[in-house]
Amino acid sequence: MANLFLKQAKQYSLTRPGYPQQLFDFIASKTPVHDVVWDVGTGSGQAAASLASIYKSVIGTDTSKKQLEFAPDLPNVRYELTSPNISRSELEEKIGTESSIDLVTVAQALHWFDHDTFYNQVKWILKKPSGVIAAWCYTTPKIDDRFDPVFRKFYSESKPYWDLVRGLVDERYTSVKFPFDPVDGCDHTGPFEFESEKLMDLGEFLTYIRSWSAYQTAKEKGVELLNDGVIGEFTNAWGGGENGRKRVTYPVYLRIGKVGDSLK
Ligand SMILES: C[S@@+](CC[C@H](N)C(=O)[O-])C[C@H]1O[C@@H](n2cnc3c(N)ncnc32)[C@H](O)[C@@H]1O
Repeated sequence: MANLFLKQAKQYSLTRPGYPQQLFDFIASKTPVHDVVWDVGTGSGQAAASLASIYKSVIGTDTSKKQLEFAPDLPNVRYELTSPNISRSELEEKIGTESSIDLVTVAQALHWFDHDTFYNQVKWILKKPSGVIAAWCYTTPKIDDRFDPVFRKFYSESKPYWDLVRGLVDERYTSVKFPFDPVDGCDHTGPFEFESEKLMDLGEFLTYIRSWSAYQTAKEKGVELLNDGVIGEFTNAWGGGENGRKRVTYPVYLRIGKVGDSLK
């Protein structure tokens, strides 16, 4: 799977959205101590950079060396390449000891993980009882009434090339297993909805599509998702606008919980 992100790491770092400040403020308000964060599947640091302005230190881990190469260099962020099935000793060596982490974040990556194994690691490494896990995904972007139907048709035609786990994203993380207690002040673990925005011209938007794992999978099967016909339809629907740039809005869905005292 990591290979799917390896081949388009540069496109990924250039065109993927960052996340809204409100999301980080909400997470920070639910984390009693702002010392150490483990950002798992950090990619090119889309969340790590924002977390670094709130928490004393951030450890960003990923299984793709190429993704990490595009992550921003920040004084309080340490990036680590990890194996897909991380062992307890690797966890201790690269991330931390038992009950040492205040917050685990997973941005647009939880659906790729082996959930039982990952949650055992999270429960072991989070401080008890108040350590928090926050995992979020974003679904397909919205642009305007003219472009959205064309894009929706394209997305639905791309379905055969998405991994089955993409279904968890399409379902806005409502169905993802999440065995944690609600954080203080909440009576459920989400999803809580936020919005991320990015100004993009059509070229950038097409580069964003090229950063999809599905685009890479289709290509490996000899299918060019962005064929001339599709580019033509996109160009017509995109239209002009100031410098051809449009506000692209991604709905973000957050699951958040605390580890509590007992292991479930
Ligand atoms: C869709 S990207 C998300 C990157 C970034 N967090 C963001 O918000 O854009 C998913 C990332 O998860 C990484 N990944 C996949 N499986 C992983 C695993 N088992 N452990 C750590 N990282 C993993 C991939 O290499 C990729 O960089």
